[in-house]
Amino acid sequence: MSQPDFIMIKAQEDGVNVIGLTRGNDTKFHHTEKLDRGEVMIAQFTEHTSAMKIRGKAEIYSAHGIVYSEGKE
Ligand code: TRP
Repeated sequence: MSQPDFIMIKAQEDGVNVIGLTRGNDTKFHHTEKLDRGEVMIAQFTEHTSAMKIRGKAEIYSAHGIVYSEGKE
């Protein structure tokens, strides 16, 4: 299988969480990465990671376009 695309997440505030969720029958958090403002994480979906949850204000770049998550007011 060819390499899946990378997802790029740029934090727009301190304390943005990038949470990886497991692939398979149960969907659980398996990793949380905390980003401060301006920090970037580049990640892929893998055999272990089927979904990602981004908590906090961030720019998310993928092959599907750009989406902006929002922090709580
Ligand atoms: N060990 C994880 C994996 O291979 C690392 C990882 C990949 C990850 N993509 C992620 C962790 C996205 C958090 C979010 O699947």
